[in-house]
This record gives sequence, C-alpha cells and structure tokens, in this order.
Amino acid sequence: MLDNPLNILAPNYDMAHTSFFFIFLLTHFLFYSSPTTFAFSPTNDHIPPCHDHEKSALLQFKDSFSIREYCDQKLEGWNQASDCCSWDGIECEDVTGHVISLDLTSSCLSGSINSSSSLFQLLHLRSLNLADNDFNRSSIPSALGHFPNLTHLNLSNSGFSGPIPSCISNLSKLSSLDLSWNAGLEVKTNPDFKTLFRKLGSLQVVHLDRVDMSSTVPNDILANASSLVSLSLRWCYLRGEFPTRIFQLPKLEVLFLDGNPNLTAGHLPEFHSTTPLRELSVPSCNLSGHIPSSLQNLTQLVYLDLSDNPFSVQETSSLPWMAGTN
Ligand SMILES: *[C@@H]1O[C@H](CO)[C@@H](O)[C@H](O)[C@H]1NC(C)=O
Ligand SMILES: *[C@@H]1O[C@H](CO)[C@@H](O)[C@H](O)[C@H]1NC(C)=O
Ligand SMILES: *[C@@H]1O[C@H](CO)[C@@H](O)[C@H](O)[C@H]1NC(C)=O
Ligand SMILES: *[C@@H]1O[C@H](CO)[C@@H](O)[C@H](O)[C@H]1NC(C)=O
Ligand SMILES: *[C@@H]1O[C@H](CO)[C@@H](O)[C@H](O)[C@H]1NC(C)=O
Ligand SMILES: *[C@@H]1O[C@H](CO)[C@@H](O)[C@H](O)[C@H]1NC(C)=O
Ligand SMILES: *[C@@H]1O[C@H](CO)[C@@H](O)[C@H](O)[C@H]1NC(C)=O
Ligand SMILES: *[C@@H]1O[C@H](CO)[C@@H](O)[C@H](O)[C@H]1NC(C)=O
Ligand SMILES: *[C@@H]1O[C@H](CO)[C@@H](O)[C@H](O)[C@H]1NC(C)=O
Repeated sequence: MLDNPLNILAPNYDMAHTSFFFIFLLTHFLFYSSPTTFAFSPTNDHIPPCHDHEKSALLQFKDSFSIREYCDQKLEGWNQASDCCSWDGIECEDVTGHVISLDLTSSCLSGSINSSSSLFQLLHLRSLNLADNDFNRSSIPSALGHFPNLTHLNLSNSGFSGPIPSCISNLSKLSSLDLSWNAGLEVKTNPDFKTLFRKLGSLQVVHLDRVDMSSTVPNDILANASSLVSLSLRWCYLRGEFPTRIFQLPKLEVLFLDGNPNLTAGHLPEFHSTTPLRELSVPSCNLSGHIPSSLQNLTQLVYLDLSDNPFSVQETSSLPWMAGTN
C-alpha cells in the first residue's frame, strides 16, 4: 500500500475520483509553491489580518460622520479590537490583506467629505459604494483619482453637488460608475463629457440620472463608449441633437433616456437582430418619425417605453403587438 500514497490519502476513491484528487493536489502544490503565495501554507486558509493603517483610516472615516442611531447596524461592529477584514461592508484581498472593497450603502452617514478624508488612504480599493447617504452637498473629492485600481464607483443618491471633477478620467480601470440622483451634480463645459470619459474605454455601466448635463453636446457621450452595456441618463437636461448612434453601440443592453424633452432631431433607427437591447426606455425624448417595424428584431427585449414622443402614428399598425389597438 505504501507505494501508492494516493490510496492512503483517499482509500475509498474509485479511479475517477483518485485522478480528480491527484489533480487537486497537483494544482494546490503548484499554487502554493509559486513565489507570490509562498508565505501561506496549504493548511492556513485564513485571510491575513487587516493592515493597521487601513483599520485606523476606516475608523477615522467612520468618526468623521454623525450616524443616526437607528440605522448604523453595519458600523456597529467596527471597533479597534476586531480585524477590519471581518467588518460588515469591508472586503480584503486574500493574499495581501488590503482592503479592496468598501460598501457603506444606506449607512446613514451624514456630514461633509473632502480630499483630506482618511478614506483616500485606502489606495487598494477596487470597489467603493457610498450610495444612499447624506454628504451634505459636498463636491466629489478630487482625491478619488488616486485609486488606481478602482473598477466600481457608486455615489448615487448621496447628496453630492457641484461639477463632476476631472479626476474621474484618471480611473482607467473603471467599469461601473453610478453618480445618479445627486440633484446638484453637473457636467460643466470644462472639463466636458468628452474629456471626462474619453480615456474610460472599459466603462460598461454609466448611470448619471438627474445630473445636469445641459452644457454637454449629447454626441460627446459616445466618445469612447463601445464597451457600454448599461447607460442611464434620465432627466439630465440634455439639449441638442439626439445621439442616434447610441443605438448602434454593439454591447448596449439597457438604455434609459427618460425625460430629456429638449433633444432635437431624434428618431429610432432600423434594428437588427444582432442588437442586444433588453430594456429600452426613451419616453419624453422628442423622438419623431415612425416607429420602425424592425423593433420586432429585438428578440432580447423585455422592457420598452416609447411614450410621450411625437412619433407619426400611422406606421404603428405595422407592429404585430399593436395591430388593432386603435
Ligand atoms: C453641512 O455643510 C454646511 C456648510 O456647507 C455646514 O455649515 C454644516 O455644518 C454641514 N453639516 C454637517 C452635518 O456636516
Ligand atoms: C476637510 O474636512 C475636514 C473635516 O471636515 C476639515 O477639518 C478640513 O479643513 C477640510 N479640508 C479642506 C481642504 O477643506
Ligand atoms: C493595482 O493592480 C495591479 C495589478 O493587479 C497591482 O499590481 C497593483 O499592486 C495594484 N495597486 C494597488 C495600489 O492596489
Ligand atoms: C491620477 O493618478 C495618479 C497616480 O495615482 C496621481 O499621481 C495623479 O495625481 C492623479 N490625477 C488626478 C487628476 O487625480
Ligand atoms: C448603486 O447603489 C444603489 C444603492 O444600493 C443601487 O440601487 C444601484 O443599483 C447601484 N448602482 C449600480 C450601477 O450598481
Ligand atoms: C478609449 O479607451 C481605451 C481604453 O480602454 C483607450 O486605449 C483608448 O485610447 C480610448 N480612446 C480614445 C479616443 O481616447
Ligand atoms: C428645456 O429648455 C427650456 C428652454 O431653454 C428650459 O427652460 C427648460 O428647463 C428645459 N427643460 C429641460 C427638462 O431640460
Ligand atoms: C423637438 O425636435 C424638433 C426637431 O426634431 C425641434 O424642432 C423642436 O424644437 C424640439 N422640441 C424641443 C422642446 O426642443
Ligand atoms: C431584421 O433585421 C434584418 C437584418 O438583421 C433585416 O434584414 C430585416 O429586414 C429586419 N426585420 C424587420 C422586420 O425589419
């Protein structure tokens, strides 16, 4: 028996299980003997404890706000005595123990924030979600541009105001950006939308509902948008020519443009069956012309709102689901 160590380790395994087990051992051997993971033995599957400076930055961040008592459950367990990687809302990287995700959605944070905040010491952050708090009409701090690896940023409905800062264009790995429902936020002419987003070619999700974009030329939105999967610009005060090319974005599945009535010259294009659109919501966008029958080519479509647009109605009877409705 001793000449077959695999059978000693797994005596009841049949041949298939044994080879699976062998592959398992082999991959573990390769993984744990590679130089970067060298320090961690296979028996130690603990995430390393959090770094002291990150823990104190987090505690300082928490203390910079007043938190209403009835809804601070998430922050209750945040204290000096425990490992910050175990705190609610925190995620640390397996190997390095650095804080890579901070999610304080709906945590009743109330108070101002600026670039001196200890938050910006968490350099390794990949995901930051502070949605649904009250930052007291603070500007979005330009220190955000110092998070080189940020892929997800969500500051929706959190009381930010002022111009969207140019530091956003520094976040070259950003794939999801949600700044919606901050009524005082705006895109200024300098930097304009094109400048802000030109470098951000990995953006897949952009939600900017209620952001004042009246100074932007809508076509600038398409500057580097070929990766976009979900775009939501509801009630953004858009003016100027409707960016018709938006319908041609190859990966776009969700498009919400509700309530931009000052757009001009908008019309729906012919749709091809390769268009991946799943949700299309363009009410009150001043779209004219006819509703193309090629809408029926959108086989993925589960949500459609074309209401309150000055379409020429005589064409609609060519749509099967509308036939006989008038
Ligand atoms: C909110 O900001 C105003 C000034 O803009 C300041 O006077 C007030 O103290 C701030 N409130 C909080 C809770 O930080
Ligand atoms: C940032 O905020 C802190 C605390 O609210 C304040 O003490 C500091 O003066 C502010 N810094 C700037 C540059 O506004
Ligand atoms: C950013 O990610 C790269 C590649 O994964 C890594 O080498 C680098 O250390 C990260 N930087 C920070 C500050 O986390
Ligand atoms: C962009 O990031 C680099 C490196 O993190 C930093 O040195 C620079 O100040 C940032 N620029 C802005 C505008 O945030
Ligand atoms: C941002 O956070 C809010 C609140 O949790 C959530 O409803 C929204 O879907 C998030 N946005 C994105 C793009 O995930
Ligand atoms: C678009 O983004 C990509 C990064 O994904 C970048 O390489 C490219 O230069 C950008 N395009 C423009 C016109 O800036
Ligand atoms: C439309 O344009 C008019 C005239 O410039 C302006 O008063 C109004 O606020 C705009 N409405 C929207 C929703 O942008
Ligand atoms: C709607 O679009 C037409 C041209 O397509 C334009 O003449 C009209 O002014 C637009 N309406 C508004 C409110 O901007
Ligand atoms: C559907 O799209 C194809 C091209 O993908 C086009 O040839 C066809 O005419 C379209 N169908 C309708 C009903 O418009």
